[in-house]
Amino acid sequence: MTSGIVPATPSPDWVERSLAAVWHPCTQMKWHPELPLVSIASAAGPWLTGHDGKRYFDAIGSWWVCLLGHRHPAVVQALRDQLDCLDHVMLAGLTHQPVIELSERLSRMTGHVLGHAFYGSDGASAIEIAIKMSAHAWQHRGYAKKQSFVCLAGSYHGETLGALGVCDLPGFRQPYEGLIRPAYVVPNADARQAEPGEDARAVALRQVRHLAALLEERSDEIAAIVTEPLVQGAGGMIFYDPEYLRQVRALCDRYAVHWIADEIAVGCGRTGSFFACEQAGVWPDLLCLSKGITGGFLPLSIVLSRDEIYRLFLHDSAAKAFLHSHSYTGNPLACRAALAVLDVLDNDGVLSRNRLRAARLTARLQPIASDARVRHFRQIGMIWAWDIDIPPADFSHQVFRTGLRHGLLLRPLGSTVYLMPPYLLSEDEIDALGDRVIATLQEVLA
Ligand SMILES: Cc1ncc(COP(=O)(O)O)c(C=O)c1O
Repeated sequence: MTSGIVPATPSPDWVERSLAAVWHPCTQMKWHPELPLVSIASAAGPWLTGHDGKRYFDAIGSWWVCLLGHRHPAVVQALRDQLDCLDHVMLAGLTHQPVIELSERLSRMTGHVLGHAFYGSDGASAIEIAIKMSAHAWQHRGYAKKQSFVCLAGSYHGETLGALGVCDLPGFRQPYEGLIRPAYVVPNADARQAEPGEDARAVALRQVRHLAALLEERSDEIAAIVTEPLVQGAGGMIFYDPEYLRQVRALCDRYAVHWIADEIAVGCGRTGSFFACEQAGVWPDLLCLSKGITGGFLPLSIVLSRDEIYRLFLHDSAAKAFLHSHSYTGNPLACRAALAVLDVLDNDGVLSRNRLRAARLTARLQPIASDARVRHFRQIGMIWAWDIDIPPADFSHQVFRTGLRHGLLLRPLGSTVYLMPPYLLSEDEIDALGDRVIATLQEVLA
């Protein structure tokens, strides 16, 4: 078997064993096994293969991490090479080639505006790092009162307690409300709010006034605003105009507030440019990356910081340093995987070719875009989303279940269906994806 597609000893009872021993994330375990639990044996490109031999198109890149396709050979090879020399080493007092090269490269990619890279393990840890860094930096500058944060309505930044503080999704927060330090929530610039005659930019200019009013009144206690640039993902694939980010930048400059750009989901080319902020032509003070940066191979997150912020922490006292670490901070394997992903993106012109791939899939999805039950069909880069006007009861579970029968992995966000597939798709794979999505929706909405 050339690529290990089928395991040596398929076991018929993986699902039972998983249900007996594994506490699955974001899952009401009681709903299993009626809600299918699929045991995956292997993966290649956009395809997952179950222990039963059935193939599933990973239309959501396994929670948006699988950037190039599963087990991309260049990343596999880079990891093999890295394993032959250095597996892991702590990053305090020690350093290594992959973390240096990755930090230099990301700095270069921001034109050296964000000149230092701090490492975490996953998206939520990057958000924790960024909010701590921001508040601590203001302390260093003598503004100890600046300890509050602002986020947008419908925002999602991860599920640890600090990150939940800047989330506006009650489902994730509610049981932990007493443990969370709440942030100011300002209305977002969701382009779907356009009044007749308004475009997305006009919505952005109208909505940013709420932020301006808040900063005018409270900037003395606000450290930073945290945003998901261009697309608020888990909140329902809320698209908004880059003008909003330009206004955020200007307001942050005017009121001495940091801007933290959470590019955990939208970075790495997902919206068409490597950093989503590039489309607004402005840089934040701190930028968080994770998910796709290792192509879905290993957990890694990175907070890119302006050098002005970095320099505030240089001091004779250890207590003034940024005393934050995770055991796997800057893991060499994860950094090597990230470098390999960046090589593939650069050398294969992936982001420019994505424009053709996106156009083909958008055309293939026309029956959905023109369906009277569908509202706000939208696409940016390699993200597609649409809302179902009057969804049947239990819509998202139905789509998940029906999708699996059609060989498709989909997990709608409420009544919003979205696709965030791996980038490297052949024409046949794009067509197969489009056809499976259409067949799944037709069945659920019939
Ligand atoms: C925008 C955004 N920020 C942060 C996170 C949290 O990342 P993680 O799940 O790796 O902690 C996510 C995860 O979906 C996300 O979409």
